[in-house]
Amino acid sequence: MSSLVIRRYEPGDAPALRAVFVSSVHDLARRDYTPAQLGAWAPREHDAEAWARRLGAIRPFVALVDGVPAGFADVQPDGLLDLFYVAGPHAGRGVGTALMEHLHAEARSGGIGRLWSYVSRTAEPFFARRGFVVESRRVVTVRGVELDHARMGKVL
Ligand SMILES: CC(C)(COP(=O)(O)OP(=O)(O)OC[C@H]1O[C@@H](n2cnc3c(N)ncnc32)[C@H](O)[C@@H]1OP(=O)(O)O)[C@@H](O)C(=O)NCCC(=O)NCCS
Repeated sequence: MSSLVIRRYEPGDAPALRAVFVSSVHDLARRDYTPAQLGAWAPREHDAEAWARRLGAIRPFVALVDGVPAGFADVQPDGLLDLFYVAGPHAGRGVGTALMEHLHAEARSGGIGRLWSYVSRTAEPFFARRGFVVESRRVVTVRGVELDHARMGKVL
């Protein structure tokens, strides 16, 4: 039986969370997006300092399975879930559900009345089953490649 612990981001997590992000996109979202889209979304070459700065700013929660980062997700003061990723080998075992429950509890205790996110086609059913509804759809151009996603929201 493996252990699941959720704790706040620590600065040393940045490289491990990059690996989670890349695995999540390239192993899981490949069902729904082309190789060009995956490469634009999660490039394997990246600016490690900028990544660490971004994580330091949004301060995600990190899910540790047997002490190793398996997923991460954040909630911002305006209810935005900015990043939400589970590594491919850890998917489908409840890590995403545990992170989502943690974000809900965090939001409620912080007086946040509404959660929202830009959600990939891969994650849309997961969010929908947890009460989020599609508010709009849009296409963004990332590193010259078009990516489509849905804006989803949920009143708490
Ligand atoms: C969407 C995502 C975050 C879900 O994370 P996850 O850890 O796989 O989620 P869970 O395992 O909690 O739940 C996924 C499914 O596995 C099933 N599951 C949950 N716990 C389980 C367990 N212990 N054993 C077997 N199956 C389980 C659930 O039934 C769930 O299905 P449901 O959505 O119908 O309820 C993950 O797939 C992901 O990172 N996707 C790619 C990146 C992405 O698109 N991120 C979002 C950007 S907006």
